[in-house]
Amino acid sequence: MDKLPIHNEVVVARFRPRTRWNLKYLSLLCLCGVYVAAQWSRSISRTVFVDDESASLPAHAREALYKCKMLSVKPGPPDDFYQRSQSDRFVKGTPPTLLRNASVWTGDSAGYELRGVDILLDKGIIKFVGQADQGSLYGYSNLVTVDVGGSWVTPGIVDMHSHLGVDSAPSLAGASDTNSLKGPILPWLRSLDGLNTHDDAYRLSISGGVTTANVLPGSANAIGGQAFVIKLRPTAERSPSSMLLEPPYTINDTRVDPSLPPRWRQMKHACGENPGRVYGNTRMDTFWAFRQAYDEARKIKEKQDDYCAKVVTGQWEGLGDFPQDLRLEALVDVLRGRVKVHTHCYEAVDLDDFVRLTNEFQFPLAAFHHAHEAYLVPETLKRAYGNTPAIAMFATNARYKREAYRGSEFAPRILAENGIDVVMKSDHPVLNSRYLLYEAQQAHYYGLSPDLALSSITSVPARVLGLDHRIGFIREGYDADIVIWDSHPLAIGATPIQVWIDGISQLHSPYVSAKPSTLQSAPSTPNFDKEAAAAVKYDGLPPLSTASPTTNVIVFTNVGSVSSKIGTEIQQVFSASDAGRGVAIVKAGELLCYGAHAACVNHITSNEVEWSDLDGGSISPALVSYGSPLGLEEIHGEKSTRDGVVLDPLAHQIPDVLEGDEVIRAVDGLLFATRDALLAYRAGVTSAVTAPASKGLVAGLSTVFSTGAAHGLQAGAVVEDVAALHVSVSHRWSGSPSVSTQVTALRNLLLHSNEGTPFNLAAKGEIPLVVEAENADIIATLLKLKAEVDTHTGSSIRLTISGAAEAHILSKELAAANVGVIVSPSRPFPEEWQSRRILPGPPLTYDSAISTLLDHGVTVGIGILEPWSARSTRFDIAWAALESDGKISEAQALALASTNLEKLLGASAQGDLVVTRGGTILDFEAKVVGIISPRRGLFEWI
Ligand SMILES: *[C@@H]1O[C@H](CO)[C@@H](O)[C@H](O)[C@H]1NC(C)=O
Ligand SMILES: *[C@@H]1O[C@H](CO)[C@@H](O)[C@H](O)[C@H]1NC(C)=O
Repeated sequence: MDKLPIHNEVVVARFRPRTRWNLKYLSLLCLCGVYVAAQWSRSISRTVFVDDESASLPAHAREALYKCKMLSVKPGPPDDFYQRSQSDRFVKGTPPTLLRNASVWTGDSAGYELRGVDILLDKGIIKFVGQADQGSLYGYSNLVTVDVGGSWVTPGIVDMHSHLGVDSAPSLAGASDTNSLKGPILPWLRSLDGLNTHDDAYRLSISGGVTTANVLPGSANAIGGQAFVIKLRPTAERSPSSMLLEPPYTINDTRVDPSLPPRWRQMKHACGENPGRVYGNTRMDTFWAFRQAYDEARKIKEKQDDYCAKVVTGQWEGLGDFPQDLRLEALVDVLRGRVKVHTHCYEAVDLDDFVRLTNEFQFPLAAFHHAHEAYLVPETLKRAYGNTPAIAMFATNARYKREAYRGSEFAPRILAENGIDVVMKSDHPVLNSRYLLYEAQQAHYYGLSPDLALSSITSVPARVLGLDHRIGFIREGYDADIVIWDSHPLAIGATPIQVWIDGISQLHSPYVSAKPSTLQSAPSTPNFDKEAAAAVKYDGLPPLSTASPTTNVIVFTNVGSVSSKIGTEIQQVFSASDAGRGVAIVKAGELLCYGAHAACVNHITSNEVEWSDLDGGSISPALVSYGSPLGLEEIHGEKSTRDGVVLDPLAHQIPDVLEGDEVIRAVDGLLFATRDALLAYRAGVTSAVTAPASKGLVAGLSTVFSTGAAHGLQAGAVVEDVAALHVSVSHRWSGSPSVSTQVTALRNLLLHSNEGTPFNLAAKGEIPLVVEAENADIIATLLKLKAEVDTHTGSSIRLTISGAAEAHILSKELAAANVGVIVSPSRPFPEEWQSRRILPGPPLTYDSAISTLLDHGVTVGIGILEPWSARSTRFDIAWAALESDGKISEAQALALASTNLEKLLGASAQGDLVVTRGGTILDFEAKVVGIISPRRGLFEWI
């Protein structure tokens, strides 16, 4: 039983039903019966009912009456919430703060943008938005005043799907609390019970503007348990409970003030592959598990309603105890419409199954999460019980398993066009929630409107969580969770200058990188209408092969800039400011001429001329992808779509049949025309260097291939059979031999391999040796090993470190040893203990790992971890340059994913050029429209 304090009439009076309670009440009617409903309604509105008749009531009757009344009360803030003068999270001593002259994106569809306004923060809330004058500032003497200088200010970012604190960084066995494996139905579990207060990611995510997160259990279970909303800032109490935002009173079964309506609860559900895989279940099994659980919960709910029908009509005799089951009470609350249910669910079949479940048991769903096929079935979503769920998704992270295969970058805009709420989420640490804003930026790039893109990480998730009375907006009376940005929040690389949570500034000495003024407004993004329509038409698999090569003369007009490779360097060789907008002439894969129109006019000789206006676009060297299994797999989660994993000499008995060829060549396993490769090609990444997939020390020999090729025998499909030799020295793999054992094995392989074998060639410096290593201690050991082997052989290993999360610590030593570094991913995350000492970059540090290494003269390339992200290489390098405070030029940015990678990986220089319209390849304004390929002697329209 709940230990409910007895209330007084004042309390009861505050329960006078508002319209929405009556409506809520009516929706329950069908289950309770009209008569009971009428009694109930009367009992709620007769405010002195309890006290009038209490004398004649049996013991516990007040409690029972109260409890029964509470069952029909919809969660939400109390009526007087909006009159609050102070936040329940206010920290005494927090100074009032006035932000002067802000450009505000409010979150409010009534008027999204305000210019030149002041925002007053006090007592943990926003006290005032507008032009501050003596009136609005009356009574404030010691204000902290911040001149925002017209910078953009938004509400704090709300991440609706996070595993912050339960799937912790660095990941350690002792803090792994995401998934219980105790059965498919676990509604009684609470993520709060495993919340690690020491996760490195809180600080990092705050530095990306995230102020609130919904911490969900994982997706191993059909019903994984209850989720909790936290604010990310540190608290004086240092406890998980003190981080909670409006926790439901069920967490400790005490209600501070019994008159308060309940608070929203959050719950995780999951369908499809994950719960199926974990329990060896089919989809049929998983849905039966759901139905069985909900059927049990429904029976309890019906017993409660019968009980309450008796209570309300005064049938006290033989009443017994209130029917309850602690295991299922949260599910009963779902059936009462008092829980925000978040369901991880991808495919049409799963979405349809779940929509039927909501109708069979009549409960509303807050959101489908991931939902990579939601954009294909909007009508199904609209058939969900009660309301159409929001869709919480990634921008471009897809194809990692079958149910994500048909994911589309156009899903956010398509869903929005169907009137469905769009939320962008991180699934942190799947995506680092520090960069949740980037998901909104990409959704915007691919066609979601600017206001919906920003709403998708602020006001919409706030509403879906049932917290839009206090977060997600910049409005008077709302929580003082505010971010000032160094550029327009939809501009690439936008970074907080300062973040307030509950009115407390979070960045102690923020570093700001000066940004070009062009980034102070939302980018005007390309038109993708045709591509979006094709995504739907082809059921998520629109054809991606380009198939329109031409050897005609192409005349590009309105050219903004041209960059090209001069030797192994990239230089801008033409810029519109030099000579007005230029022209560029291309024929048969050759850039014949560029510059002023007059200079090139002679080249327009043939009749077969196509003209194309680039609208200030550019021509620049094509990009190279490195670091993921791009070209070796189609769907990571499906073994039958992958080349597979090589045998490891430290873990396996290598079969005799491989003798003499133990080092495997990736070229022998290449899969062409994978969707990720074709998408990369269409985004200007025309080649990739890929090593065999390995879970051990030796990966093998990488290959260089063309991402746009249809098959391996097409001219130019394989650029180079063999590029470099790849190994990995790591603490990561479970059950793997020690790092010292790995180093010994590597030393032996380098010193004692037969003449002409890959390790012998690497020892002699004839092919590069690429060692994947994150940790500074391992990297130091590798530098010593190189010196040792070099002394022995009299030559020099061409060593490249990839991964390299902690390489910046050894910048000087790496430069001295002439060892290059491929930083992958390009924006660091302290995922493991061995990679925890990251250099996070602005606003937390002035330098990034990339800029530090470059400063010391190290050759730096960037890599990726998963093939879906190859297409975004152009934005990764743009971002690296933008956060360098001008230290990395556009040409150097391009080099990070082209010439530098070629040097570090032993790949010969590629001559492909990328043509963009609307801006350079580094801009959100630009779209890749063509590839000039001298290697293949043609031009290809994208
Ligand atoms: C607000 O900031 C803008 C941009 O920096 C500036 O032009 C303007 O003068 C500022 N207004 C005030 C009142 O300071
Ligand atoms: C129960 O939780 C609420 C909400 O966090 C809190 O205000 C209250 O102090 C807690 N009560 C006890 C007895 O811990």
